[in-house]
Amino acid sequence: MGKKLEGQVAIVTGASSGIGAGVAKSLAAAGAAVVVNYPVPSNKEAAEAVVAEIIAAGNKAISLQCDVSKESDVEQMFANTVTALGSVDILVNNAGIQKDAPFQDMSLDQWNLVISINLTGQFLCAREAVRTFIKQGIDTNKSKAAGKIICMSSVHEVIPWAGHANYAASKGGIMLMMKSLAQEFAHKKIRINSICPGAIQTPINRSAWETPEALESLLTLIPYKRIGQSEDIGNAAVWLASDDSDYVNGISLFIDGGMTLYPGFTTNG
Ligand code: BGC
Repeated sequence: MGKKLEGQVAIVTGASSGIGAGVAKSLAAAGAAVVVNYPVPSNKEAAEAVVAEIIAAGNKAISLQCDVSKESDVEQMFANTVTALGSVDILVNNAGIQKDAPFQDMSLDQWNLVISINLTGQFLCAREAVRTFIKQGIDTNKSKAAGKIICMSSVHEVIPWAGHANYAASKGGIMLMMKSLAQEFAHKKIRINSICPGAIQTPINRSAWETPEALESLLTLIPYKRIGQSEDIGNAAVWLASDDSDYVNGISLFIDGGMTLYPGFTTNG
């Protein structure tokens, strides 16, 4: 049997580090040719390292720079992908940042930056993906669907997060954007779902795991008692991108070791 994503092209935004890099490697290992997107020139080296690792494993990848919050950048990235690799079949809307601050001190810049990358960036990339999928139509040699979009959300699309109002608002927004798009484009055979990671060991949450004390405190929030790894998310992304999940549309798939199970109630309430 061929690999599950053989012959398909995937764009993974924000793939020069963290969850995005892990997802890019998993999709490539499943046979997809992957665009490792990075935001600014200073991330080029890290993106190239991800590409090199994928190629060394015998799989396909290229890197493309694009600031997902800029309309013309996004249009250009999709056009360049089609020119270089022939199509776009999978979008992983992953790029995201945190700019944490107590709410009364949160600047408009901190608010706008997080919303523009985490939410507007996902809008711009999803819109371009939908346009591309509709133009391409269904190729049953590749997939039963015309295209697949995976939005990287967070447990914080449902768990409120003091000190991170901009981030939580962006993830709550992703939830209903994703579900609205899934409803709007199901009849076109475009599947749109979210992955909601809990605490995954990446640079974005370094302060939550880099000391034994911080990790111990973090683990009180995780019933499964381990921090997540990028492969935990990569494995789920392969499933959501493949025909194994062909009847799955509009879901938020929580991958969080039980963080959303209200662990405070285990011995209380
Ligand atoms: C955040 C991480 C955090 C995790 C669980 C993620 O969405 O980016 O910083 O550790 O949620 O709270």
